[in-house]
Amino acid sequence: MPLVDLAQLPKHVAIIMDGNGRWAQARGRLRTMGHREGSKSVRRVVRASRRLGVRALTLFAFSEQNWQRPEPEVVALMELLRDYLVTERRELIDNGVRLRAVGRIDKLPARVREVLDETIAETANLRGMTLTLALSYGGREEIVDAARTLASRVAAGELDPSAITEAALEREMPSISLGRVDLLIRTGGEQRISNFLLWGTAYAELYFTSKLWPEFAADDLYAAVEAYQRRERRFGQVLSDVGSLLSSSASGAWERQ
Ligand code: IPE
Ligand code: IPE
Ligand code: MG
Repeated sequence: MPLVDLAQLPKHVAIIMDGNGRWAQARGRLRTMGHREGSKSVRRVVRASRRLGVRALTLFAFSEQNWQRPEPEVVALMELLRDYLVTERRELIDNGVRLRAVGRIDKLPARVREVLDETIAETANLRGMTLTLALSYGGREEIVDAARTLASRVAAGELDPSAITEAALEREMPSISLGRVDLLIRTGGEQRISNFLLWGTAYAELYFTSKLWPEFAADDLYAAVEAYQRRERRFGQVLSDVGSLLSSSASGAWERQ
């Protein structure tokens, strides 16, 4: 961790955890073994982020589009998610990690939802770090849902169309209630967003690594944070204005909590 500047940490880190299937296939094993191995990386990265002092970590665990994978893989992923929640609950509590979920959670099997809801409730008052799992999540879907909510308020006469602003839409998007994304990491070598946090990543720094998710360790997270700290964020402006912009966006969201 020596090169990480703890005073300049990204407040909100988001990760597209990709490459589990390829990791397993390269070893002649079933894709689901790759997902099992990947859940160990989740544990490592949550711990490392917490120790580093990241305030918000959002992990892409299952996309809305992932439902279209072969059923045995979907079933295995759901069971692994449940196992993860059952075994990690104690560790999350001991480390002050608050759990949240974003996405179309009602689509998850009841036995996953139950443990998820319990863990969310048990960790609701913890403030060390917030871990958000994106489950049955799609960035386009989230924008559509937010638009629909605002449209129904307009239809009910409660909201004037002129009041539909960026801020109004953002208030309906749970994935950015902790602030927009500062650093987006994708493992597995692909350089695409795959319908992750479309709105919140508008000005995120993107970091791609060819490491497959099961191989991703604490040092890889530190390397991503170091790379982030070498970037020059401009938000479409000239450099001298950026300091005030950063303090009014991301940290403002924290104060609203
Ligand atoms: C990411 O790994 C995990 C999920 C999408 C649930 P993949 O399963 O996409 O692994 P690859 O990309 O096929 O190697
Ligand atoms: C993105 O990975 C989804 C998750 C990591 C949960 P995918 O493997 O589903 O994305 P594509 O298919 O490569 O775009
Ligand atoms: Mg993939």
